[in-house]
Amino acid sequence: MKKILLFIFICSISFAQKKTIEQRVDSVLALMNLEEKIGQLVQYSGGWDTGTQTSRPREGHIELIRKGKIGSLLNVFGAEETKKIQKVAVEESRLKIPLIFGLDVIHGFRATFPIPLAEASSWNPSLVEKSARWQAIEASSAGIHWTFNPMVDIARDPRWGRIMEGSGEDPYLGSLMAVARVKGYQGNDLSANNTIAACIKHFAGYGGAEGGRDYNTVDFSERTFREVYLRPFQAAVNAGAATLMASFNEVGGVPSSGSNFLQTKILRKEWKFDGFVVSDWNSVGELIPHGVAKDLKQAAELGIKAGVDMDMEANAYYNHLSELVNEGKVSQKIIDESVRRILRIKFRLGLFDDPYKYCEAEREKNTVMSKQIVQATLQSAREAMVLLKNKNNLLPLKKDLKKIAVIGPLANSKDDPLGGWSQQGNANDVVTVLEGIKNKLGKSTEVNYEEGCTILGEEKNGFTKAVELANASDVAIVVVGESRNMAGEASSRAKIDLPGIQEDLVQSIQKTGKPVVVILMNGRPLTIPWIQENVSAVIETWYLGIQAGNAIADVLFGDYNPSGKLPVTFPRYVGQIPIYYNHKNTGRPYNPNDHYTSYYQDLENTPLYPFGFGLSYTTFTYSNLSLNKNKIKKNESLKVSVNVKNSGSVDGAEVVQLYIRDLVGSVTRPVKELKDFSKIFLKAGETKKVEFTITPEKLKFYDINMRFVVEPGDFKVFVGTNSEDVKEASFSVVD
Ligand code: NOJ
Repeated sequence: MKKILLFIFICSISFAQKKTIEQRVDSVLALMNLEEKIGQLVQYSGGWDTGTQTSRPREGHIELIRKGKIGSLLNVFGAEETKKIQKVAVEESRLKIPLIFGLDVIHGFRATFPIPLAEASSWNPSLVEKSARWQAIEASSAGIHWTFNPMVDIARDPRWGRIMEGSGEDPYLGSLMAVARVKGYQGNDLSANNTIAACIKHFAGYGGAEGGRDYNTVDFSERTFREVYLRPFQAAVNAGAATLMASFNEVGGVPSSGSNFLQTKILRKEWKFDGFVVSDWNSVGELIPHGVAKDLKQAAELGIKAGVDMDMEANAYYNHLSELVNEGKVSQKIIDESVRRILRIKFRLGLFDDPYKYCEAEREKNTVMSKQIVQATLQSAREAMVLLKNKNNLLPLKKDLKKIAVIGPLANSKDDPLGGWSQQGNANDVVTVLEGIKNKLGKSTEVNYEEGCTILGEEKNGFTKAVELANASDVAIVVVGESRNMAGEASSRAKIDLPGIQEDLVQSIQKTGKPVVVILMNGRPLTIPWIQENVSAVIETWYLGIQAGNAIADVLFGDYNPSGKLPVTFPRYVGQIPIYYNHKNTGRPYNPNDHYTSYYQDLENTPLYPFGFGLSYTTFTYSNLSLNKNKIKKNESLKVSVNVKNSGSVDGAEVVQLYIRDLVGSVTRPVKELKDFSKIFLKAGETKKVEFTITPEKLKFYDINMRFVVEPGDFKVFVGTNSEDVKEASFSVVD
């Protein structure tokens, strides 16, 4: 008898394994009562708050898990801690459905990589994919199943603090970075124990906040929305992103967390997304202050009907969904659909097969801050830096200088290089700029440090010592910028120059006549025209993570030749914002000889540094831009080639960029659009032919009737080292 029972048991297991995920989801769904279904749609923080404090049910999350009333927790981590909590779900709740643990692993769990904007400056999607892979390996070892990343919001406004979390202003570069990160987090097999589910966010248009003020209103045309802001989302959905987060903002009068147009029409119907949507922190509850829901109950109704499956922290679904179903205002079918999407991802993650597979304390111990991960953060940090100026080749510095002055409030900061959203990043793990320089140099070089001033203070007492030190040294390295909490969520700035009196400090050091190198550490483009005008060498380092100091020293002393390019335009002055390279021409483009054209009376129209800009210790010469055809049909492709020579004396990498312009369309087109790029490495003196293919897909846009098509007509193609310094050729598309 025992043998027969065992046989039946084994058969049922192998049958279960043969069942598709959809069948398994259905069989779980069939067992669930309404309360348990709603439970799957509820997420609370199991730790700290990452948003305005909300009032949670009094029982506390462990009791709610036991009752099957929570499907997910955020802000808990650790192999042992998550195991303890998961055990309650899978051993003490009626249906034993595993929880999914989410966390903001934005640029690392403990081993902090450069901030996303910095990584985007590498223009190296495969490096970014590897970084996300490492982040997943580390986070998954600490019990995390799901990261609320990548943030794929396009940002054309550097006042917006969250620009640091994304990949800048361009939809093409942004899409490649989004896809790279999704692939890195999710790997080839979401059910492996070292991959985690990605969550693309914030859907959508969040980066378009008016005035760059966080959470502010967004309003733009559907064309701009689809061509600019939605593109990285669409690319990431196509790449298989498991989940998506609704945004806080409204677009054109409809808050995203209640937007059927976004969460259902575009996302599910057009893009066929089959993962689940989580709200942002209390964003369903915020439908009330937005003014589209009179109370939390109506907010819950709007959210679930729009297609927001999981309610993060608003209590709206927890408190009101069952009432709404009983009153017939929300159908069972809608609830079932949302539950199905969440269970589907839990199955894909393999949580039903082994809910504890992310909970091995030994693996966590061996993985977190492992040597290889730390090494990977160093490589990412090197590639993220952008050399903005290098007059008379002041850089790289010689390693045998006698005395070096390291000055500035960020030069020896342990905390700031971590950047915002650094999760479990620990200041003790950080190598500061001062430490990095000392690590690099032998005993024969004296390296001294003076803070000079604080980041925000007005006190100039420290200037005297800093100036004395500069006077007594061969070179002054001045590290200035923003503290790490000046960029990120709720960290918008109306003035984006160097905070406090830091620019005065740089000016005092510059007056000594000593060679000055400015190292910028910041989370957004800054307006620094004086520095660009006067200082010989400037490096944008953003926030580079735990290996910041070593990476910066590698660049300062020539062990790494900088190759980063700006993923976002730097304005000269805040009044130019929004300023971005792929703008429209207007009916009156600027003409210095015509008063009635589009310009500012008190400022040049150009940016301080254009999109795609970045120097190297070598030079690159472009020649022989050629097209294999000058005329193509709408469904044909075209090959573009160019020779790039390393015309300097050191080896280096260059990002060769291709832009197009559609000269006449049924609607206006941008003056330039990035369509391709290639990062190549060239030995000194070496030449490479770089080839690009312009496919019909790259020429398509939303025409006057909102059809995504190629229109016949004349095009320009530009290839060069940044969005302004380009060679150009022409071609036409015929019917
Ligand atoms: C609010 C942020 O907008 C979002 O990006 C983040 O993932 C959640 N809080 C959770 O921490």
